[in-house]
Amino acid sequence: GIPSLAQAYRGRLRLGAAVEPGQLNAPEGRLLAAQFNSVVAENVMKPSRIQPSENEFHFAPADAIVDFAQQHGMTVRGHTLLWYKRTPDWFWSDKDGQPASRDLVLSRLRQHIETVVGRYKGKVYTWDVVNEVIDPAQPDCLRHDQWLQVVGPDYIDWAFRYAHAADPGARLMINDYSTTLPAKRSCLQRVVQGLLARDVPVHGVGHQMHISIFEPAVAEVDETLAVFARLGLENQITEMDMSLYQRHAYLLPDSVDRLLPVQGQRYEALMKVFLSHPELTSVTWWGISDAHTSRNAGWDWWRSDAPLLFNSQQHPKPGYWGALKAV
Ligand code: XIL
Repeated sequence: GIPSLAQAYRGRLRLGAAVEPGQLNAPEGRLLAAQFNSVVAENVMKPSRIQPSENEFHFAPADAIVDFAQQHGMTVRGHTLLWYKRTPDWFWSDKDGQPASRDLVLSRLRQHIETVVGRYKGKVYTWDVVNEVIDPAQPDCLRHDQWLQVVGPDYIDWAFRYAHAADPGARLMINDYSTTLPAKRSCLQRVVQGLLARDVPVHGVGHQMHISIFEPAVAEVDETLAVFARLGLENQITEMDMSLYQRHAYLLPDSVDRLLPVQGQRYEALMKVFLSHPELTSVTWWGISDAHTSRNAGWDWWRSDAPLLFNSQQHPKPGYWGALKAV
């Protein structure tokens, strides 16, 4: 067989992949255990999935992933405790169907975080406490969603405090996409500096890194990591994948045969940058193989993309060999 990427990176970076429980027993599960030493739930730990109605927790799918990790000596990332897109509707109204007050929403948030983080205490070593809260189009840099409207900007502080109280040993991250864009990066920096100034227990930044073979420039990735390193924070790459498409394009710019080596070289260059940052502790891909990738779902369902390290037959791509060469 081929070398284990996680073995090759041992002592340097933790390497992980996102999974759905159904993948664990499929051929992908074997590849996962052989090539990675960390795992994250692609969907089943999100608030609307793990607490679909108030005080009804749906732990079995998440437990299956955590159990698999323990059986195979892998660590687990927790994703995520708060995300505007996956906050269940019941959060926002009281038992009479009236809009929930700030106090009610915060007590539900505390209950949710205490229960979920508490259950996986000592098993999930790091949490994406808040996901996608930054909006550089707003003067205050915060996404103007229901959390901000109902609770106010300190909902972020409370999420971190509740998580820290529930598991003081967990590494707590603020996670977001497009952190390499200058406007997003400086907004994220501003928000994080606010958290630090208020002694909020934030330990690092999660960079989703849903990118393409075209952008961003590797130097922008380096600069973003450097910004948070200078603040004394940890960096994690949390949702790595690399589209072959130009943004919004309907067609591939060239044949897949010619694009995969380009992807391989870019993965190699990125892994070298990641390795050059001692504060960067892990790289997690948003999927195991191209057989199952969110880049072929949602808005992009009509495309046939190939953003990961293994192809849909679970065989290594140039990206795998690039990542192996980088270390
Ligand atoms: C995505 C999953 O991959 C999809 O299966 C789901 O339908 C939507 O969510 N940023 C995140 C992830 O933080 O949670 C998202 O995952 C991808 C974008």
